[in-house]
Amino acid sequence: MECNIKKMTEEDFDQALAIEMDLEQDTWGVDGFKISFIHDEAFALTINDNKDIIGFLFGYETVDEFNISNIAIKKEYRHKGFGYYLLSNIIEMKKHIKNFFLEVRTTNTPALSLYQKMGFKPLYIRKGYYQNPTGDALIMCLSINNHI
Ligand SMILES: CC(C)(COP(=O)(O)OP(=O)(O)OC[C@H]1O[C@@H](n2cnc3c(N)ncnc32)[C@H](O)[C@@H]1OP(=O)(O)O)[C@@H](O)C(=O)NCCC(=O)NCCS
Repeated sequence: MECNIKKMTEEDFDQALAIEMDLEQDTWGVDGFKISFIHDEAFALTINDNKDIIGFLFGYETVDEFNISNIAIKKEYRHKGFGYYLLSNIIEMKKHIKNFFLEVRTTNTPALSLYQKMGFKPLYIRKGYYQNPTGDALIMCLSINNHI
């Protein structure tokens, strides 16, 4: 797989935002995306194919927990293993993290399948969490036993 992963910089912002704004649902919008990017505790990665950004991941850390708050792959690059690669990298990068958390729309089959494949387990449902259309969120967790 010809790609590399790096920390998101200001130069990457417009390309990453374009991927976010092209999502079918649940986009953060321009302001939400900007706020998440400049937030002190935010951790943002891009995945790049040659020179173009083909996806990104946002998250934040609290002591030994990591919350994955956003992950997206550009439409034409989906279901080619890039999302899996990006998630595997963050888990590998964050050696001190014991639990990775995320939330996902219960109808988002590609994302649910990806997280299940990664080993995330369902924790509980947050009713009516999403809007446009209204939908429930499944909270999932991946516990890493072999991390320090
Ligand atoms: C969810 C998302 C990040 C997955 O990234 P991706 O690069 O397409 O996923 P991968 O190619 O790495 O696929 C890994 C696994 O995910 C699942 N998967 C991915 N796309 C799928 C699809 N269209 N249908 C069903 N399962 C799918 C499969 O289990 C797949 O394993 P397989 O290749 O052995 O079948 C991508 O679909 C996306 O950007 N969606 C829009 C944004 C979004 O919904 N983000 C998640 C918010 S919680």
